[in-house]
Amino acid sequence: MELGITGRNALITGGSQGIGRACAEALADEGVNVVIVARDAERLAAAATEIASNRTGRVTPVSGDLTVAADVERVIAEAESALGQIDILVNNAGSAPMGMIGDIDDETWQASFDLKLMGYVRCSRAVMGAMRSRKWGRIVNVIGRGGHFPTAKYIAGGAINAAILNITQALAEECGPDNVLVNGVNPAATATDRWSALVQQQIKLTGKTEEEIMAASAASVPLGRIAEPEDVANMVTYLCSEKACFINGALIEVDGGVSRAL
Ligand SMILES: NC(=O)c1ccc[n+]([C@@H]2O[C@H](COP(=O)([O-])OP(=O)(O)OC[C@H]3O[C@@H](n4cnc5c(N)ncnc54)[C@H](OP(=O)(O)O)[C@@H]3O)[C@@H](O)[C@H]2O)c1
Repeated sequence: MELGITGRNALITGGSQGIGRACAEALADEGVNVVIVARDAERLAAAATEIASNRTGRVTPVSGDLTVAADVERVIAEAESALGQIDILVNNAGSAPMGMIGDIDDETWQASFDLKLMGYVRCSRAVMGAMRSRKWGRIVNVIGRGGHFPTAKYIAGGAINAAILNITQALAEECGPDNVLVNGVNPAATATDRWSALVQQQIKLTGKTEEEIMAASAASVPLGRIAEPEDVANMVTYLCSEKACFINGALIEVDGGVSRAL
């Protein structure tokens, strides 16, 4: 399928590894020029070189801490300067820990909130005006099924994801008239470093073994396995494309059939 986005320009937060990196690879495969953002400049630069090799889209690393408002402003300015303009924003950087309400202190709540909720809000707000004036844009929020399905053991991440589900549809209403489409993707467990860290946190919180947690996670999915980052990136890339021109405000589960709700 020709996605119709060759030569477009994308900013992907958290693009040095995991789901964000897979999104950068998939978009660069389509000939999209990409800026990837993360804190660890060395890992980010290495990822940019690897992603760009044998792909048509250019890949530029811009390091920054997206919990910090001033860094978001600088990152957006550097991305615009590298790309010329930002047509596509993939909001993806997030890091809320596992834990029940008594496990998570105020600082951890605030840090998780600053990165995923305020990071997504600040990046969206910074790019949507220019997208709207050009009458073309795509914002895809990588959210998480915990936003729809509260669980005691993932209370901070679930609460932040619930807010982003809401914001996604609110922005879709606001930006739709200018052909700036805003959608969300909800992965279930996905094989990334973040997932490995969450498994380690679950081991500490529950006393279960890694094998037990991994087996239960796979068994909870009708497809019998957790997701690969590419499974999520394929949907993100489609939503970024011209082909998705009538999809706006959608909250799409990429979870192998875990979520069953009408
Ligand atoms: N993996 C899952 O099972 C799963 C399931 C549902 C939803 N999600 C969501 O999917 C998104 C990506 O998850 P992932 O598993 O791919 O995560 P990951 O492997 O931990 O990658 C996170 C990326 O974000 C960057 N990042 C973290 N903190 C940052 C900060 N303060 N400023 C800028 N960049 C930062 C990281 O680089 P640096 O550390 O160098 O900054 C890295 O590039 C998250 O929003 C997560 O909640 C994941």
